[in-house]
Amino acid sequence: MPDNFILVEHPLIKRDMTILRNSATDAELFRSALRRISKILAIEICRTLKLNETEVITPLERTTGYTLAEQVVITPVLRAGLGMVNGFLEVIPDSKVGHIGLKRDEDTLRPIYYYYKTPAELEDAKIIVLDPMLATGGSAAEALNYLKDSGGKDIVLACIVAAPEGIEKIRTAHPDVKIYSAALDRELNSKGYILPGLGDAGDRIFGT
Ligand code: PRP
Ligand code: URA
Repeated sequence: MPDNFILVEHPLIKRDMTILRNSATDAELFRSALRRISKILAIEICRTLKLNETEVITPLERTTGYTLAEQVVITPVLRAGLGMVNGFLEVIPDSKVGHIGLKRDEDTLRPIYYYYKTPAELEDAKIIVLDPMLATGGSAAEALNYLKDSGGKDIVLACIVAAPEGIEKIRTAHPDVKIYSAALDRELNSKGYILPGLGDAGDRIFGT
C-alpha cells in the first residue's frame, strides 16, 4: 500500500460499494449508498482531530467535556464531490464548506477550472477535499493547488474509489496530503475511467 494512502475498510463500506458499482443502481439508491460510505470516511478521517477540554454540567454533577479545537472545512470538487457533502455534514455539522469547480476535458483528461469559493481562514483549518473518483489525479491535484495557494496547510483527500495512477500523482505533486479511500481499484482504461470502478460518478449521482 502506498504510504500516502489509507484504505478505509468496513463491512458496511463493502456492502455499499457493491451498490455503487452495480450498473443497475438508480440515482436515488446511488446517492444514499454514497452518503453512508461518506459518513464512515468522515468518522475515520476525524479520528485525529484535536480537542479542547471543557466542563459540562450533567443533570447530576459537573464533569469533563470536549469541543473540537480545529475548524473543519470540507471542500467538494464539483460536481461529484457534492454527493459526499451530506454524509460529512451529518458527522461534522459545524464544518464550513468550500466549493471547487473542475471539469475534466474528455480528450486531454486535464481538469478545466470554473469555480472557486472557500471560507476566508484556511491557515489553521483541517481541510477535507471530497472527490469520489481519483482517476489520473489531475482534478484532485489542481484542487489541492488552489487550497494551498489560499493558505491551506492541513489537507486530506477523501475518495470513494482510487486508482494507482491517481495515488501516485498526489504522492509526487502533494506528498504532504494523505488520501483516504473506500476502495483501491486496478487501473485506468484508455479513456481515463477507473476499472472496475463505478462509471461516471457525477452522471450517476445526478442522473445526467
Ligand atoms: C470526475 C470526478 C473527478 C474527476 C476524476 O469529475 O468527479 O473530479 O473526474 O478524474 P481525474 O482524477 O482524472 O481528474 P468530472 O470531470 O467528470 O466532472 P463531474 O464531477 O462534474 O462529472
Ligand atoms: N471520473 C469518474 O467519474 N469516473 C471515473 O472512472 C474516472 C473519472
